Amino acid sequence: MPLVTSAEMFRKAYGKYAVGAFNVNNMEIIQGIMSAASEEKSPVILQVSSGARKYAGQVYIMKLVEAALALDPSIPVVVHLDHGPNFEMCRDCIDGGFTSVMIDGSKLPFEENIALTKKVVEYAHARGVVVEGELGRLAGVEDAVNVSAKDATYTDPDQAVEFVKRTGVDSLAIAIGTSHGAYKFKGEPKLDFARLEKIASLLPGFPLVLHGASTVLPEFVAKCNQYGGQIKDAQGVPEEMLRKAGTMGVCKINIDTDLRLAMTASIREYLALAPEKFDPRDYLRPAREAIKNMVKHKIRNVLNASNRL
Ligand code: G3H
Ligand code: 13P
Ligand code: ZN
Repeated sequence: MPLVTSAEMFRKAYGKYAVGAFNVNNMEIIQGIMSAASEEKSPVILQVSSGARKYAGQVYIMKLVEAALALDPSIPVVVHLDHGPNFEMCRDCIDGGFTSVMIDGSKLPFEENIALTKKVVEYAHARGVVVEGELGRLAGVEDAVNVSAKDATYTDPDQAVEFVKRTGVDSLAIAIGTSHGAYKFKGEPKLDFARLEKIASLLPGFPLVLHGASTVLPEFVAKCNQYGGQIKDAQGVPEEMLRKAGTMGVCKINIDTDLRLAMTASIREYLALAPEKFDPRDYLRPAREAIKNMVKHKIRNVLNASNRL
């Protein structure tokens, strides 16, 4: 199967499950994710950040994805630009064969975000590519965000409707309390489900996206720390909350931190237990396996996306 856009994936998933969007940076990460998707018979989104493009190179990533598609043509795969910072990068990715791009104008004033997003949508749609926009800002690690701070940073439901109508975006990333990285909450994890419900009710059937959705699996944090890491007070989004979001109109759940932790925990453990080894294949093989097992767990138990081909 050639690369697809997420349009059909999201139509099928809406209200029932979410498609996993996993950040990719190198061959082992792509292989681990793709083996998991194949075994779970799940559609998958491989997303590439500006940092990943800089690290690996867009052409390398596209060729690796091409190889993965050739090995298992049965899995619908999207290649997506994660947090596109400007029109030019979105254009380069579209011209380079990506089937989906995110334009992240969330830090811009509302009208500027609309204008930039609309420009990307026009370019993308003319070439059969879909676009994710973002409205609202992801929270930091502040404990209980107070109501007025929430209103300033979390996605405003009425603005979301206006944003979708005026830009023509295909999906929308919303801010309801998640954040990027390993330190998402200081106290008890909380997401604003009432806000999600409101946005979904005002935009029926429209695919919503949750960034910053790693669960920060404690077993990987513990393993990193056991073998020399110093990752203190890490906390992610509880699995139960993600399962719930997947039934409420969130069709795409973004995961990067959990991939980093799975890979690093495995490599730390391997090198600590076999200090005489120095062949990268020795430690990258189990790291790739750790990614695969973690992604299988997500697809099956968190996203509810197994057997969805
Ligand atoms: O949202 C950010 C993703 O985790 C990608 O991170 O920009 O370091 O590649 P990165
Ligand atoms: P995490 O840091 O929670 O994995 O979020 C990744 C993300 O949102 C990528 O866009
Ligand atoms: Zn993100």
